[in-house]
Amino acid sequence: MTLPAKDKFTLGLELPTDPRWVNIAEKNIEDILVDHAYCEQKAASSCIYPEKEKLVNLLTPVVAEEWGHFERVIEELQKRGFKLGKQRKDAYVEALNKVIRKGGSREQQLVEKLLMNALIEARSAERFKLLWKNIPDQQLAVFYYELMVSEAGHYKNFLQLAKEYLPEEVVEARWRELLEQEAEIMRNLEVRGDRMH
Ligand SMILES: [Fe+2]
Ligand SMILES: [Fe+2]
Repeated sequence: MTLPAKDKFTLGLELPTDPRWVNIAEKNIEDILVDHAYCEQKAASSCIYPEKEKLVNLLTPVVAEEWGHFERVIEELQKRGFKLGKQRKDAYVEALNKVIRKGGSREQQLVEKLLMNALIEARSAERFKLLWKNIPDQQLAVFYYELMVSEAGHYKNFLQLAKEYLPEEVVEARWRELLEQEAEIMRNLEVRGDRMH
């Protein structure tokens, strides 16, 4: 597989990942794979609101893709003789959960949830991009490249879907707020090579 040389993936995040992260992450590939496996597993089980037909239709293929990713991460672990191991505390997602508004209508709550998912997808895609570009293992680099493309697509799916439930300008304004909050979270989060985020 030939990978594109140019950086054509702009994910719109406010704060790029600390460049130290990828250097320590690539030295902790077992931890990264384990943490990553749980990210995929959580991604596969979030955000289905059964009464919203359009959402179910749009997100069912996303859920299937996340399960596919989970399986592939497990394969990568096993190839290297690593075990899945216990799930780790996800400080990034916990911090995002705190900035998500809890009250309001069903639609408002849904939009908050969809935007939170969009943020996680965008940040994950950004991190996969770093792994793709920096990891010496070519086979893993291809894997991370494919994941970057897939999660960048999911980020757009979630953002688009949010606009089904509230007016576009309301969603855009909230998205900009959340991007700033996400950047603030990133700024305060410890840079550690055993976490995807
Ligand atoms: Fe995924
Ligand atoms: Fe995803």
